[in-house]
Amino acid sequence: MKILFYGAKDYDRLYFDPAIREAGFDCRVKYLQANLDRTTASLASGYEAVCLFVNADCSRPVLEVLARHGVRLLLLRCAGFNHVDLEAARSLGLTVLRVPGYSPEAVAEFAMALALTCVRRLHKAYIKVRNNNFSLDGLLGRNLSGSTAGIIGTGKIGVAMARICRGFGMDVIAYDSYPNPTLDGLVTYCPLEEVLRRSDLISLHCPLTPQTHHMINRETIALMKDTAILINTSRGPLIHTEALLEALRQHKFSAVGLDVYENEECQVFEDCSDEVLENEQVPQLLAFPNVIVTSHQAFFTHTALETIARITIENARAFALGHKLKNQV
Ligand code: NAI
Repeated sequence: MKILFYGAKDYDRLYFDPAIREAGFDCRVKYLQANLDRTTASLASGYEAVCLFVNADCSRPVLEVLARHGVRLLLLRCAGFNHVDLEAARSLGLTVLRVPGYSPEAVAEFAMALALTCVRRLHKAYIKVRNNNFSLDGLLGRNLSGSTAGIIGTGKIGVAMARICRGFGMDVIAYDSYPNPTLDGLVTYCPLEEVLRRSDLISLHCPLTPQTHHMINRETIALMKDTAILINTSRGPLIHTEALLEALRQHKFSAVGLDVYENEECQVFEDCSDEVLENEQVPQLLAFPNVIVTSHQAFFTHTALETIARITIENARAFALGHKLKNQV
């Protein structure tokens, strides 16, 4: 099988080359730095499969070009698939495979790291001490122990986060449109409004769908405690950023940690330090001392990258050999 990698970084090669060697499967790959979009789709001519990350353009017009050039398989080297027009893929005969749950702990641990960093103002403390400023002004935090965590979406990552929160001595309540009865004893399910109203730490772990788009908006923010900590490691558009900015201006939230944000596509994973940013909301968010933003790095651990590479190649192999496809979307 010939696979063209779009948006490939050095770390992709580092983990995929050994995964391909170890799989013992006849597959030739080419790593392209350019990401998939209308202008690069035709480069896949002659490749049966393309390997894509979360920021690839998988809209119908792009998929049409891929299909026209003979591509039959989209190998997503990620868990989320909200960026893929699945209806278009189906109608064009493109199979879509992903890597679910490659390391829920990687993301959950990062969600807790974000929460602790922003609520204990570690991002400010780090810079202050480097500048020989040893005062504690502006660094007052809040305990998590004894407070209530609200988990929205109790899938693989939500459960890992719930376990971490329990380890911190928190009560854990949760909302999921499909509650999982086996989590009895770990989380207490409540209606969404109650989770928002009661939680001190709200962590988002549901996928981006038409139902969850802007689920955190002016109305739902109004339900939250003024001192709530809001963490998003799921997908940016779960939060209506304008509503969040408005609330922050009114001194709502103890802390906000965002690993994902709306319209991140134009800059995510790129070094734009010498450019004028298209996304004007990031600098606005960073103007608040209680907000930190990271660039979609929650997944980025050794364990996760190793698993992503291994499962992606297993997916390719299963497709090539006509085996049952367990990770099809
Ligand atoms: P999962 O599929 O195991 O769990 C998602 C949960 O959300 C399910 O329990 C589902 O019932 C629930 N859900 C669906 N619609 C809902 C709604 N309307 N309201 C409340 N709950 C709803 O997914 P997993 O692996 O836990 O991942 C969650 C999300 O995390 C992914 O969809 C992806 O967007 C994001 N992610 C972010 C990463 C990062 O690096 N920042 C890395 C990996 C995933």
